[in-house]
Parts: sequence; structure tokens; C-alpha cells
Amino acid sequence: MKTNLDRLRAKMFTAGLTAVLISDETNLGWLTGFTGSFGRAIVTADRARFITDSRYTLQAQEEVPSMEVTTFASPKEGDEFLAENIHELGILELGFESSIVTHSGWERWTTKFAPIKLVSMGPMMVELRLVKSPEEIDLLRTSCRLADACFDHIKRLIQPGVSEIDISLDIEFFLRRNGAEIGFAPIVVSGERSARPHGTPSEKLLELGDFVTMDFGGTLNGYNSDITRTVVVGHASDRHREVYELVLAAQMAALAMMKPGVAAGDVDKSARDVLATKDLAKFFGHGLGHGLGLAVHDGGRLGPGSPTILEPGQVWTVEPGVYIPGFGGVRIEDDVVVTETGIEILTHTPKELLVLPQP
Ligand code: GLY
Ligand code: MN
Ligand code: MN
Repeated sequence: MKTNLDRLRAKMFTAGLTAVLISDETNLGWLTGFTGSFGRAIVTADRARFITDSRYTLQAQEEVPSMEVTTFASPKEGDEFLAENIHELGILELGFESSIVTHSGWERWTTKFAPIKLVSMGPMMVELRLVKSPEEIDLLRTSCRLADACFDHIKRLIQPGVSEIDISLDIEFFLRRNGAEIGFAPIVVSGERSARPHGTPSEKLLELGDFVTMDFGGTLNGYNSDITRTVVVGHASDRHREVYELVLAAQMAALAMMKPGVAAGDVDKSARDVLATKDLAKFFGHGLGHGLGLAVHDGGRLGPGSPTILEPGQVWTVEPGVYIPGFGGVRIEDDVVVTETGIEILTHTPKELLVLPQP
């Protein structure tokens, strides 16, 4: 079976790179399995060297069996040690993560590594991480199962008089109590506040006739879930139903067209076209979705004009929303994996408009 190191090598050689330097913490975790906070991996055709500092010597030896591990300690300085290793490996040109390394980092490395030439790796790591292995998909499935369980658990709190912040704290408690970290601060917004797509939970109390949008996810064994549901408190008006049903139809249209070979931008457009039938596309200001994995926003965009072509193993969120100032908003977000023939939906929380509390 191909390892992530094999996949990186294949990709770098296709791009004409003979050596690369990986320094981003999440990319390093993906490539090596290392869980510490500082490391560097140098990869060439026949060598793979992992560098970290003395805090992690034993951990790196244990976690990174696929690479030669070498560590440094004070007074040796990190970039100096890195430069020595790069020179020792006979590297002349070195690919680096240009979308992650800061400008000052690039300037520092250019000086320290001279005369080695630094060249951009472009979107290589995003493209690699977007396509998940069967093991990663299993972890994402488990993470999504926890998100579903969390939604089921918090439904009992949706009633007049409960604050947004209390609901968000209960979401956090449930996720953490079940072994996950918080993937991002939960969004809980109600009534007119639900027109804020990424609003922060407030002390506002739920009232009859409020839309309540809850967007949350946990990081379980390193892998994230990201789910959103909007419900109504007490009684749904015709306008609630009309807006909700159209957002749901937009999501269903997008899900129906997802399969290998389809352009991400066309998936986004399919949802936008549905919203446009009732003049609601103007209230959908964000992209339809994003890659999901080790990071909540794992790279890749299911957005207007996105040229990414869907491939088996990619994991995406699909999250159309309509946010009407002075009225409220609806977002429905599921996580899906692209299969050979279509998609598998990883989040299973029901999507018909839920009016709570249930009698
Ligand atoms: N929770 C952030 C997002 O849905 O993208
Ligand atoms: Mn979300
Ligand atoms: Mn999302």
C-alpha cells in the first residue's frame, strides 16, 4: 500500500522537484505521524530525514519510523542545524510550502540555506491531503458519528428561555466528554442573530418562532467533523418553511451531482441556481463547502469557479446557507466522501425541518 511519503514523492517528481522541506505542523503529522509541535522533514528521491529539537528526541524516534530522525539541542540553533542537514544531503534546489511559510521565514531561509534555491511547492500538499486513504475515511466516519450523537443530545435544550451560550457549552461538554477536542468554537445563533453565518453564541435566550442555527464539530483521533443544522423553536411560519425548504433543495441538488470528474465550481453553482429560483441566492455569501480532514478547513474549495475536479477519496463539507438580515438564517451542512460512483454522506442527522421542543 502506498504511504503518504510515497504519494508525496510521486507528486514532487511530477512537478519536477527533487527535494522538499515540510514544516507545517499538520502537513508533518499527515506525512510522518509525528504529534509534537515542532519538526521539519526533508524528502528527496531516496532519503527522508526528520529533524526536531531535544524536547522530542524520544517521541520522534517512536513516532517517525519511516524517516532518519535527527535532533538538535541548545546552543545549536534550529535553522543552522536544518541548513547543515540540507547541505549534507547534497540538495541544490528545495521545494517549500509557499502558502504557509511567512515572508520573513522565507527571507531567513534564503540567507541561511544559500546558495540553495528555494522554490514553491504550489498547492501540492493541499491536493495530496484532499484525497483521503481508507483509514482516514474511517476516522472521519467515526468523527461524524460523534457529531450526529452530539446533535441528538442537544436537541433537548432547544426550548424558550435557554441561552445560545448554554447550548454551545453543552455541545463542547458533550464532544469533550466523548473523547474529542473542539474542532472550532461552536456557532449557536438564534432569531435575527441566525442571519450571522459565523456569529458567536451570546446570552440571548431562545424565543418562540426563532430559527436556531448550530454549527459544530469535534476533532477525534486527529480528524474533524463539521455539521450544521437549523431548527425552529415552537412554531414554524410559512416563511420559515419556504426558506428552509429551498436551502435543503439547494443542498440536495449539490449532493446529487457530486461524483468523480465533476468540477467543484459546478457543484457550488448547482446550489446557487436553486436558491436563485426564489431570489435567495443574493443571501448566500460564502462558498458551498471546503475540504475536511486533519484541519476543519483542510484546503480545497467547493466554491464559485473552483477548478478542483472531484476524485474518489476527497472529503468535503456541503453547506449552503441563506441569511436574511432582520429575519434570520438557515444553513444545512453535511460531510461527504467522494466514492467511485458518487458520494457517501458521513453525517446522518435528519434534515427535515425540526420544530422543537417536540410535543
Ligand atoms: N464551522 C465552520 C464552517 O462550517 O466552515
Ligand atoms: Mn460548520
Ligand atoms: Mn464547514
